[in-house]
Amino acid sequence: MTTSAAPAPAETAAARAARPIGLFDSGIGGLTVARAVAQRLPHERLVYFGDTAHLPYGDKSAAAIQAYSVKICDLLLRQRCKLIIIACNSASAAAYELVREYVGSKARVLSVIDPIVAHLGRAYAGRRVGLIGTKQTVNSNVYKKKVDDLDAGVDLHSLATPLLVPMIEEGFFKNSISDDIIGTYLGQAELADIEALVLACTHYPLIKEQIARYYAGRVDVLDASDVVAAEAEAYLATAGLLAPAAPTPPAHHFYVSDFTRSFEESTRIFFEQEVHLEHYPLWE
Ligand code: DGL
Repeated sequence: MTTSAAPAPAETAAARAARPIGLFDSGIGGLTVARAVAQRLPHERLVYFGDTAHLPYGDKSAAAIQAYSVKICDLLLRQRCKLIIIACNSASAAAYELVREYVGSKARVLSVIDPIVAHLGRAYAGRRVGLIGTKQTVNSNVYKKKVDDLDAGVDLHSLATPLLVPMIEEGFFKNSISDDIIGTYLGQAELADIEALVLACTHYPLIKEQIARYYAGRVDVLDASDVVAAEAEAYLATAGLLAPAAPTPPAHHFYVSDFTRSFEESTRIFFEQEVHLEHYPLWE
């Protein structure tokens, strides 16, 4: 006798909307995006992956970052994420197209690059703008290409600032030595006479205050967290996937590929609440 498996019942719209939003980065940097998303969309449950075992991404090859990104997306898809935000410029530069193809129709994928590029086109047409980021992001030239495609006359000048991520991951900021490192980078000729500076690394909002202090109001300091959160909201609203209000706040989940005390500390400080941090090695 042959038996045919009954077709799986179709997922209801309510069940799909209740799925979490996934985000990933090499470490704590993407938490700046996660925090903006949590503030803007307080009913959404977040699943965050910090690939601390492979930090920093900024010094890795595009091929390595692509391999890590795909592995992380496997986990986020197993967690049934409805939206995946690549909360890392280096991974957005190296792996966005590949990840989008890999994830297909299972979830929407957002990068942190396109929303801020669109903002530059709207607000800085015909003006000189600086950008700082990791070697991976700057050498990929992806911002320059996308900005030039806008054809809005944004004159973009980029500088790789590789010391900043390890400095921030170590919690080594808001002191005079980090002021010196930041000042040395910002004083480079590439960034002369700019009207705005793009923080093209999701770690950098953690030193945004120090950077703003260096410029003393002469330069707009731009980071992508809020524009990315707004884009996430716009997508979920259009797709009918906004999570419904619930009586209790959502229980976010944080994974790391290598457990570090400093990551746990930073996560807690960022979310101002106890977090459940789980060690999840990408390769066993
Ligand atoms: N926060 C990441 C970025 O936006 C990664 C930095 C790194 O790991 O080098 O580029």
